[in-house]
Formats: sequence, structure tokens, C-alpha cells
Amino acid sequence: MCGIVGYVGGQASLEVVIDGLRRLEYRGYDSAGVALVTNDGLFTEKRAGKLSNLDVALADVETPPSTTGIGHTRWATHGAPTDRNAHPHLGRQGRVALVHNGIIENFAALRSKLEAAGHELESDTDTEVAAHLLEAEVAAGADLTEAMQGVCRQLEGAFTLVAVSPDAPDRVVAARRNSPLVVGLGEGENFVASDVAAFIEHTREALELGQDQVVTITRDEVEVTDFRGNPAEGKPFHIDWDIAAAEKGGYDYFMLKEIDEQPRAIADTLLGRLSETGQLQLDEMRLSDDDLRAIDKIIIIACGTAFHAGLVAKYAIEHWTRIPCEVELSSEFRYRDPIIDRDTMVIAISQSGETMDTLMALRHARGQRAKVLAISNSNGSTIPRESDAVLYTRAGPEIAVASTKAFLTQIVACYLIALYLAQVRGTKYGDEIAEIVGQLEEIPAAVTEVLASLEPVRELAREMGAARLVLFLGRHVGYPVALEGALKLKELAYIHAEGFAAGELKHGPIALVEQGTPVFVVVPPKGRGPLHDKMISSIQEVRARGARTIVLADQGDDRVLPYADQLVALPTVPTLMQPLVATVPLQVFACEMAMVKGHDVDQPRNLAKSVTVE
Ligand code: AGP
Repeated sequence: MCGIVGYVGGQASLEVVIDGLRRLEYRGYDSAGVALVTNDGLFTEKRAGKLSNLDVALADVETPPSTTGIGHTRWATHGAPTDRNAHPHLGRQGRVALVHNGIIENFAALRSKLEAAGHELESDTDTEVAAHLLEAEVAAGADLTEAMQGVCRQLEGAFTLVAVSPDAPDRVVAARRNSPLVVGLGEGENFVASDVAAFIEHTREALELGQDQVVTITRDEVEVTDFRGNPAEGKPFHIDWDIAAAEKGGYDYFMLKEIDEQPRAIADTLLGRLSETGQLQLDEMRLSDDDLRAIDKIIIIACGTAFHAGLVAKYAIEHWTRIPCEVELSSEFRYRDPIIDRDTMVIAISQSGETMDTLMALRHARGQRAKVLAISNSNGSTIPRESDAVLYTRAGPEIAVASTKAFLTQIVACYLIALYLAQVRGTKYGDEIAEIVGQLEEIPAAVTEVLASLEPVRELAREMGAARLVLFLGRHVGYPVALEGALKLKELAYIHAEGFAAGELKHGPIALVEQGTPVFVVVPPKGRGPLHDKMISSIQEVRARGARTIVLADQGDDRVLPYADQLVALPTVPTLMQPLVATVPLQVFACEMAMVKGHDVDQPRNLAKSVTVE
């Protein structure tokens, strides 16, 4: 999820673009860059790191006057956050500059074709491939708009593209598929951007673009077409958010926005990781097939929510690969003298990639010759850099301290790794793997369905504001979901919450239950035979002692109805997929209760987004 701005009008384009990027920096801050159309051609500058690094670079040079320009703040997906990989990227002759947000799934094949035709690409990005294709179209006689249409017809995946060229100095051309792009309609000036925060100080009149559309803006004109050049329409709207709300996309808190981004985050994490032949392709997996075949034990190390993702992953890893899998708190791992050797794979899960507990555990594992694989949401961060291999989640920046979209995408990434191991080691046939990937590909829609049905959960949170203790029960993969639901409530509402394996209740914790104690119960999918029956028994046990049961169960699971004081119906998904839908109501409950209590939802007391101390 990157930040993009394009401008054409009467103002100095550099100032407008830089100010716009500043408003979008929350969307990504691995690197930043600008491209300006000047009388002498294209002026470009780009730097790794925060926007301030670009400011410093620009202060050192004489920037020529320009009224047409584009800019980009990057959240890296392909290629580490370096100057070389920063956007904008240029075509072969440097006559076109392009910035991009999203993932071009077929970039590798396109890159091979370009290189076979003599193109030399400098970066590791998918974006540079599109820049070379765009310039090739212009060189073949297309104008910039036609060239953009032509390129979009070649690309697969999710992308927002914005381009300028000195051959078309009066315009900015942009396109979108599955990735945000909005037009700002000014007086004698126009804008394109990832979201309205970039131009809201200049105009509150905007145009929403549809799927697979190309837009060309000049000072006084906005022209929209489809990818074949047929005229199309955008949807005009007036922006009535203030600046702060605009940066949160109109949400009151980043956490609310990030909860709603989960379907897109899951879809992006899956993009491009299954080849046309149904083979998993994990391009950052730098471990050889022989290394992977030699693995005889897996240890997952992580903290907090990431640890809960590891607990979910354990069930899938063992079921699909038959490799023993332990899940360990990073802060405990190296002090228990773990049994590790060169055939141990340690998987370090970390959204920030900077958690010191996990980094120190990783270093210990490497010292014991284990193979270390990182799962992170932060490209180029320390933990992936110190690992043998990495699989990046593509949730986009997670600003709220309480982790939501990172959690779901960590589970998805773990599942992809488990399937990749099963593929390499032959414990699953290709069609079985493709079937499970197909199940994962249906999850974004299932999560969208859940998100649309949660007003009763919000009402429950508003009603339960005085609760002093809330319990969460789950079995099998529902147990880590119970732990995660409890952690969210602790973090956000500052009340005592505890998750249990439901079977453990009678061994002590049930003593906590008294009249009215709220107990959330994550019920296994209907087809889970004995587990489903046992969960019904657990619900009866707590109810018999006065608990108020909030039951999360499959739609149509009528066996739970007599024991549910509140029912949260979930879309029916396969057992191992249930955490991806069952967690969402618990996130929303905790978030709503925090708002009811007037807490700072995005920055809860005592907590930091990345804990870089042990
Ligand atoms: C979860 O909501 C918390 N923010 C916290 O538990 C977090 O998951 C943990 O600190 C691990 O962070 P990491 O994923 O960046 O390593």
C-alpha cells in the first residue's frame, strides 16, 4: 500500500506533490521519490527511507520549474527499500516516469520478455517492468494515454499506475485495477492520488474511478476511458472529511480502517504466489528444495498476536506436512536451551520485523545452525534481513498498535509456507494444494460478509462497557482465536480478559464464572464431529453457572441456539480457515468497547507498535 500523487495546473508541481506525499506517508515510508516535467525533460529524485530523506536530497539540488509532476511513498513488496528500488521508475530512454501501488502478478514473465528484447532493468521491482512497457508503447507511436491503456491490457494483479512524460508535458495519465486511485477536480488544476488526503487542501471536489479505468488529467480536462480506450465515467463526489479523517480514509481510527482492509490484505498476500500450473511460487524463499526436504522439526517464534498466528499455523503445518511443529514465545525460547540443529526450521513471525525478543531468539537459532524463515509485513526490516528466507505479508502499513490485518495475513503466510513444504516434500499432491489455495482465495469474500454483519457485536460492546472480566473459549484452531480475542480486549479496553482451551475449563478456570460473566465461545464448524459436541458441553457448563454466552458459530448451526445468549453467525468455511473469519468479530468487539470507554484506540496506554527492547 503506497502513497501516490499526480498534479497538473498552475502551481509549482514539486510543492504540491511533496505536500501530498506528506499526507500519505502513513501509507508507506520505505522510500519516496518525485518526477517533474520540465522544459529540459524529466527531473527525478528519489531516496530510500522516510520522506525527510527526499527533502534533504531535493534541498541540495536546483529543481527546475515545473507544473506537471508525480510522486510516490513506498511500502515495499517486490525489492528491498533502497534508492534503486524507490519510485518513480523510468523507461528505457528515460522519456517516461512511472509510479505504482500494488502487485503486478505477471511481472517476471514480462521482465523476461523485455530483457530478451535488450532492455536492461536496474531495479528488483515489478514497477520498472511497467515503465519499460509504457515507454515501448510510446516509442511505437502511441500517445501517453493510449500507451497506458496498452500496458494495462498486458498486466495481471492489482495496480495503480501514474505516469508523466516530457512528450506530453501538459498531462498526467493514471490507471487502476483493484488498487485505489481518486481524481481531485480543481480550478485550472487537477490531481490524482491514492486517497483524498493528498489534495484535500486544494479541492474538495473529487471523482471516484471504477475498476480497469484510465484517467488523463490536464489543467482543465479530465478524460476517463476503459483499458480499450472506450469512454467511461468516474463518479463525482464532495469530500466533507477534515484532514485528520482524510488521512484515516474517513475512519475515526486507523484500527477501524485496518479491520476493514483485511479482505484486501489477504487477497494481496495471496497474489502471485500460485503459478498458472497451480504450483506455489514463493519468490523470496531462498531455501533450496533439498534444505526443505531435510527439515525434521519446525519451531515458530513470535510475540503477542504474532504468537497467536503461530499457534493457528501449527495445526496446518503438522496436518499438511507431518513435520513436528512447536510454537514458542520469543522471550522464552532461548532461555529453555531448545534442541536445534541444521535440520530445524525456525519461523520468526513479526509484523514490524523489529521486535527485539524475536530478533534475539532468531539470532540464537542461527547460532545453533537452524534455517530461519521470517514472516514479516515490513520489507527490509531487521528480522527478514537476518533470516535465510522471508515471506512478506502484504497487509500494507499497520498503524494501529493493536494488530488486526497483520494477524490474518500472518496466518495466510504460514499456510502458504506449510503448503510449499508439502509441495516440495510431496506430502500433498498438486491438486490438493490448489484446492486449499482455492479455499484461501475465498476468504476475502467471507471476511467481507462478516464485516457487513457486526452491528449486533458493536451494540454488545456498548452494552458491556462495565464488564470487569470477559472469558474466551475455543478448541483446536479456535483456541488461539480465543487467546487473540482476549489479547485485543486487554490491549484496548484495559479489562481482564482471558482465553482458554475449552477442554481446560473444568481443570480450574471455570471457578471464575459467576452470574453474568460474559463468555465468548468459538464453536468449531458443524462438521467437526466430537469437537463440536464437546464445545456444546463446554457452553452448557458455563451457562449452568450463570455465564452470558456469546457464541460464534457457523451460519445454520442450530445445535448451539439453545445455549447462546447472543449468536454471532459466521460464514461456513473449512476448519483450518475458521480463524480467518472468527477473529474479526472479536477485533470489532474490542475496538468498539475501547471507543465506548473513550480510550485512544490507535495508541492504547503503555503499549508501542514495535517493542524494540527485550
Ligand atoms: C498485538 O495487537 C500487539 N500489538 C502485540 O502483541 C504485537 O503483536 C507483538 O508485539 C509482536 O509484534 P511484531 O509482530 O511486530 O513482532
